[in-house]
Amino acid sequence: MEIQKYLSEQKERVETALKHYIPAPVVPFTRHIESMRYSVFAGGKRIRPILCLAAAETIRAKGEIGDSLLPVACALECIHTYSLIHDDLPAMDNDELRRGKPTNHVLYGEAEAILAGDGLLTLAFELITTDDGQGLSAVQRLDIAQIIARAAGSFGMVGGQFLDIANENSQYPFEMLQMIHRRKTGALITASVQAGAIAAGACADDSRALSVYGDEIGLAFQIVDDLLNATSTTEKLGKAAGSDETMGKATYPGYFGIDETRKKAQEATARAKEALCTYGENAEPLRSLAEYLFKRTY
Ligand code: IPE
Ligand code: IPE
Ligand code: MG
Ligand code: MG
Repeated sequence: MEIQKYLSEQKERVETALKHYIPAPVVPFTRHIESMRYSVFAGGKRIRPILCLAAAETIRAKGEIGDSLLPVACALECIHTYSLIHDDLPAMDNDELRRGKPTNHVLYGEAEAILAGDGLLTLAFELITTDDGQGLSAVQRLDIAQIIARAAGSFGMVGGQFLDIANENSQYPFEMLQMIHRRKTGALITASVQAGAIAAGACADDSRALSVYGDEIGLAFQIVDDLLNATSTTEKLGKAAGSDETMGKATYPGYFGIDETRKKAQEATARAKEALCTYGENAEPLRSLAEYLFKRTY
């Protein structure tokens, strides 16, 4: 399948929806809204929304899903962008470049950046729970809100971020390293796929298969992020290369070395594709996405 074409089409849908759902700056909140918009529209691959749409379209035909999932897809991007804004703060990873541009706090200040993150996180749940008459039932919205809240919270992404910081410059066992990666990055990726499955009315078997797929690409995603941090350049990544080593982060390359790390990412990608083995043509976007994410260069 032509993954580049698929990605650019889906990205376009997501971008258009984001423009619709992120509020326009209004007085007296102008600077606050502008700071949220700055980070959301600074670029980004929009992988989580695209995974959400692709998961739904694996279970049900594209025509049946229509645009009903777009608010949820946008909510995932809001949560992801909030996590990046906070991740870059001086108290966290202290980064000055993100998506090829100055980080939110560099441009707007720390307090504004914290609030931009808070605003985006909260907006996400408004988008998920608002009945826009586009097709998702109240029960589906509730299930999706719960899945995403859990994944983003203290035993998911936030918990992973806590462990990431707590294990800086330490001797960590492999189990801790894997837990950090599965939570700080994997949890929201799995939830993106699960949200799509819920919207498509997936049966228990479908939900299980898609969750395994999400868990494995989620892990692979952070392993590749580690690899790129260690081997690529700031220019190509649009964010600081080599920072993991400087910060003493728990990483796969730090633990296994580069070659073994690449193998680990490949193995997780293979497990993700294996989880889809009972699906036909409809799962082609998810399969190609797994491969694309393994081979990505930024
Ligand atoms: C980067 O995520 C941060 C991680 C969770 C590894 P992405 O690589 O999806 O970043 P954008 O959205 O494309 O900028
Ligand atoms: C980011 O992890 C995870 C979240 C933002 C939740 P990293 O700190 O490793 O990602 P980058 O390299 O800054 O994008
Ligand atoms: Mg970090
Ligand atoms: Mg970081």
